Amino acid sequence: MSEIAKLELDGETIELPIITGTENEKAIDISKLRAQTGYITLDRGFKNTGSCNSAITFLNGEEGILRYRGYPIEQLADKASFLEVCYLLLYGNLPTKSQYESFKISISKHTLVHEDMKRFFEAYPAKAHPMGILASMICSMSTFYPESQDPNRSEEAFELTMHRLIAKLPTLAAMVYKNSVRHPFMYPKNDLEYIENFMYMTWGMPTEEFEVDPVVASALNKLLILHADHEQNCSASTVRIVGSSQANLYASISAGVSALWGPLHGGANQAVIEMLEAIEADGGDVDKWVAKAKDKSDPFRLMGFGHRVYKNFDPRALIIKKAADDVLAKLGIVDPALEIAKKLEKVALEDEYFKSRGLYPNVDFYSGIIYRAIGIPTEMFTVMFALGRLPGWIAQWKEMLESKDPIGRPRQVYVGENARDYIPMEER
Ligand code: CMC
Repeated sequence: MSEIAKLELDGETIELPIITGTENEKAIDISKLRAQTGYITLDRGFKNTGSCNSAITFLNGEEGILRYRGYPIEQLADKASFLEVCYLLLYGNLPTKSQYESFKISISKHTLVHEDMKRFFEAYPAKAHPMGILASMICSMSTFYPESQDPNRSEEAFELTMHRLIAKLPTLAAMVYKNSVRHPFMYPKNDLEYIENFMYMTWGMPTEEFEVDPVVASALNKLLILHADHEQNCSASTVRIVGSSQANLYASISAGVSALWGPLHGGANQAVIEMLEAIEADGGDVDKWVAKAKDKSDPFRLMGFGHRVYKNFDPRALIIKKAADDVLAKLGIVDPALEIAKKLEKVALEDEYFKSRGLYPNVDFYSGIIYRAIGIPTEMFTVMFALGRLPGWIAQWKEMLESKDPIGRPRQVYVGENARDYIPMEER
């Protein structure tokens, strides 16, 4: 027998179905509430609102569990390749050897971006933020592939768009970087693996041989996997909601990139390093900055701390912290920012303010330290996050369409003026 929740409203009892997920997660289905009662629910920031059924990522914030399609993040980060995880997210299962080979071939066939796109870069100011350029470039891709704009496109055409995006994002990201340092663009070298190719396009030079550093390649592989999906976060929800209007995949992903850019979401990785640098420049007094973060009259927050769903620990942060130690040791780098980060973490974790609110280091707290150690400029950090999150966004978009979800359109409680008559300007 299906479970029912009962709601007492205006002297009546309303019965609402209870939905149970495969991990025993419970939800009250209110989809008919307004039609039945005239009431809506109000949940600013969607703190308690499920927007869809999803079979992509399972996350339990209390226990620090994160799984893609059932596979624990710890196993994937340790053993899988990023491209394998892309396949898993997009198609639901880990690929067989032959599925993986044909996926890899398809991706490597589409790594070039249209030559005309090179000219767009000339128009940006020298100090343009990479995320602004990336979002524009991704949206611009829809103009080169107008068939992607047709909501009734064939399965094959959709498959091609997905593969093009996965294939071209590293090329675009590397172009954004090369443009920022005013170095020549490097064409992709398709006999290289996905991450190695990105490294080659980013750090290679036409006049020099390029050698892939396996420590850097492995760190990047891990970071991209850790970022690959995170269920209904701000950018994934944006991608789904934009796509729900039947806007094309490029436009939807571009919107996701814009949502990710904010410092409360993916932009936190840049903000963390800037914060650690500011603490260092200020003399390294960690207690002073912790006090600032606790002071409600001060807008400063401890960047890289806290999470909407993780209230105990962020499993990605544990993996990244260890990876940061490994990478710095292997590359022989001593980074004062890492020492400050560790001190900050220790002080904050022992502090009642942070303990009582369940505020722990999140994925962005240590990722910037790795990016910095491997030579990625601070403003490119969130681009790296976008590179990792891309398969998740696509999988979420695809699932939204396949589930035939209606257009995303929340309601509101209106608190403005009541009806009033227009007064001519001279009489106001
Ligand atoms: N420093 C100081 N206080 C904080 C922080 C922080 N980083 N984060 C939350 N709080 C306080 C907040 O002021 C509130 O206190 P009170 O109950 O006294 O009003 C309480 O903790 C609950 O916070 P909230 O803002 O209501 O929580 P939220 O779920 O709306 O926000 C968050 C989550 C991630 C936006 C927030 O924790 C934050 O701003 N963190 C810093 C930015 C950051 O690191 N973002 C990256 C998130 S992980 C990457 C990703 O996937 O996006």
